[in-house]
Amino acid sequence: MKIIKVKLGERTYEIIIGNRILGGLGKHIQRLKIGDSAYIITNAFLKRKYGKILISALNKNKISYKFRLIPDSERSKSIILASCIIQDLVGFDKNKRVFIIALGGGVVGDLAGFIASIYKRGVPYIQIPTTLLAQVDSSIGGKTAVDTQEAKNIIGAFYQPRLVLSDISLLSSLNLRQLRAGLAEVIKYAAIENRQLFSYLEKNHQKILSKEKKSLEFIVSRCSAIKAKVVEKDEKEKKGLRTILNFGHTLGHAIEAASNYKKYNHGEAITLGMLIAADISIRLKLLKDSRILGRIEKLIFKVGLPIKIKGISLRSIIKSHYHDKKFRGTKNRLVLLKDLGKVKVVTGVPLEIIKEALKKRF
Ligand SMILES: NC(=O)c1ccc[n+]([C@@H]2O[C@H](COP(=O)([O-])OP(=O)(O)OC[C@H]3O[C@@H](n4cnc5c(N)ncnc54)[C@H](O)[C@@H]3O)[C@@H](O)[C@H]2O)c1
Ligand SMILES: [Zn+2]
Repeated sequence: MKIIKVKLGERTYEIIIGNRILGGLGKHIQRLKIGDSAYIITNAFLKRKYGKILISALNKNKISYKFRLIPDSERSKSIILASCIIQDLVGFDKNKRVFIIALGGGVVGDLAGFIASIYKRGVPYIQIPTTLLAQVDSSIGGKTAVDTQEAKNIIGAFYQPRLVLSDISLLSSLNLRQLRAGLAEVIKYAAIENRQLFSYLEKNHQKILSKEKKSLEFIVSRCSAIKAKVVEKDEKEKKGLRTILNFGHTLGHAIEAASNYKKYNHGEAITLGMLIAADISIRLKLLKDSRILGRIEKLIFKVGLPIKIKGISLRSIIKSHYHDKKFRGTKNRLVLLKDLGKVKVVTGVPLEIIKEALKKRF
């Protein structure tokens, strides 16, 4: 088991990572004194699969609970659903000290965190991430949000959880495509911050894909530590430091949007975005060692993530690119590589260079 602290003054919290640790949740709740009644937001599958362990962990510590099941899709991240859940929460919250538990992937985590941030001007919440993406990324850092029809994550708040409990055993039911989507973020962390982690992935990706517990625990711990450090330095994304986590994301989002969020999931799209960003880095002579792009491409190929764009046009990607909210005024802003483990944020990359790098992915 590994404990990583996210040090944010009075908002400091722990990320606890380990195998089969969900059963010990009750004692953490007692230790943190966050309440006596858990409102658990999750979906039907996860309740069926892991609900019993969670219930017994809460019963052991005499914590009452209620499950609220939400539909399994990005569409659940809506202000309308959030408002319905809050009405239900008011009914549950009679003379109780209520806190919220998010048991799920990033969708459940973002929605539950958002509700926790506004209900009674903020109640405590715990993240129990169940996807690799949520364990290495979305459960950490307190970005909570819902979407509107026009834009993703447009309504939200920075609101930190009181605990993140990453139980590796919950990943056992994850399908390979979801596991790979999380692995894309892991490759991102390695590329921007940790070349040793990159070498580890080159050697151990098969173990990770076969869900070997030790290797999963290792990558979740390493990535959580990287994210925790970045969040500590720039909690509310004001100093530009958190921007480095967007490596591969600007063009990745454009690809995701151009495919109508259908053909490519987030992880697959940012994989392509990372390859394009690395290629642009070489073209701008920022990345001197061109073999690094080859290493990234080889790793991505070996884990079964896409290295070529299929089924969408170059034009539609460029069009989506210009709608990206990360644009500063009329200038684009890209996170580029200087080396493996080192990045630089560059504004105003010429469109011609972006196009050239994009073309190579077709
Ligand atoms: N807050 C942040 O900092 C942050 C960062 C990155 C992404 N996000 C958000 O996260 C969301 C994506 O998260 P995600 O990739 O976890 O997607 P998700 O929550 O939609 O989960 C993906 C799928 O996996 C299923 N699933 C979850 N856990 C499972 C398990 N243990 N076994 C089997 N199936 C399981 C879900 O039901 C769903 O069908 C997006 O909405 C994105 O905006 C937020
Ligand atoms: Zn991402």
